[in-house]
Amino acid sequence: MDFSPGSATPAIIFSTAEDYFDAARQELRAAFGKAAQIERLGRDTGSFTAPGVAIAQVAEVCQIRPIVFVQHLMREMARLPTSTVAADMTPVVAMALRLVREQGIAAPFALQVWFSSGTTNMRYQSDELWRQIAAELTAHGYTVARGGQPIILSVCLTPQVAILGINITDDALTDWPGGRVGLAKSAAQISRAEFKLEELRKVFAVAWPSAGTALDLGASPGGWTRVLRHSGLTVWAVDPAALDPRLATDPGVHHIPTTAHDFLATTTMRFDIVVNDMRMDPDPSCQVMLRAARHLKPGGLAVVTLKLFPRNPVAQVHRALASLHEAYTIVHARQLYHNRHEVTVVAQRAGHHEPMQSRASTGMKSDSSR
Ligand SMILES: C[S@@+](CC[C@H](N)C(=O)[O-])C[C@H]1O[C@@H](n2cnc3c(N)ncnc32)[C@H](O)[C@@H]1O
Repeated sequence: MDFSPGSATPAIIFSTAEDYFDAARQELRAAFGKAAQIERLGRDTGSFTAPGVAIAQVAEVCQIRPIVFVQHLMREMARLPTSTVAADMTPVVAMALRLVREQGIAAPFALQVWFSSGTTNMRYQSDELWRQIAAELTAHGYTVARGGQPIILSVCLTPQVAILGINITDDALTDWPGGRVGLAKSAAQISRAEFKLEELRKVFAVAWPSAGTALDLGASPGGWTRVLRHSGLTVWAVDPAALDPRLATDPGVHHIPTTAHDFLATTTMRFDIVVNDMRMDPDPSCQVMLRAARHLKPGGLAVVTLKLFPRNPVAQVHRALASLHEAYTIVHARQLYHNRHEVTVVAQRAGHHEPMQSRASTGMKSDSSR
């Protein structure tokens, strides 16, 4: 069995959207300098190493700098050639047990298994592997869940290598295997865009208002409006296009059939939250958000999806964030799993930013390079 126990600086496996791997690589290089070694392991998966840089530091930089095109992180502790495990799960299962034992984990932990995009050579599905590993760990007295635990055992299969590792959940950026946030479509769903707002609320610890007023810019057909209503907000839905008829009879939805610019030029209202999913280039969209900041209550939240055009997405995002900074504190910025050619930004009207949550103590053996 090929086992490479953690070297002085363990590799960090990162996930991105397939089309934005180069953007993620560019951001990591800019943040960590020329010493950063980046290798593409799959269409949506890469390996990152920089001397003395541990996963906790990468996670922190992703949040604070921010790095927006990295969606998920795991710490690599063992690697097996995919060719040796493509037909037989046994070596992966044995390695998982070995790592958990070596780390001395006693508390319940999450097991997350995924195949990187383009890994087509496996004779089993990722969920079959999850069940095999979970059964073995359970037989040895461990308590395994799919998420919601402070520690994650991750197993990522790529076309060439199977990678296993253990890290704290805070360092993973999301509590979902490879950052693939699974959301089910409900009968009440109006648009797929709803997933973006739902994912945001699952992935980021945001103090979402549970009452008051929301301004939804670019609201049609009304998916975000529906989600906002569901959270207890009364919604002003601004869009020249029509809303879904299911919203028409809701007295908590005020459809204003005009452009964002015209609405903001005439309204005197102040909102608890402003969201903007308008189909619009990042620069004008940010200008709208700067105008909208004047209509946000103190401490009010803002959410905007920056619609990217193909050339140099990193520069587009960083220019947009600099522009938003005139009126807002950026709380989170990331390309979410449900974002296509866009990035979601969560901001707060400047001067009302709460300090970020401290990292939870997990009792896990510390990473040697931390
Ligand atoms: C991606 S859709 C929004 C989907 C919506 N968030 C949902 O969940 O159903 C983009 C919308 O932006 C609207 N839009 C584009 N430019 C606009 C503007 N200047 N003012 C208001 N809405 C605009 C379009 O009419 C379109 O309905």
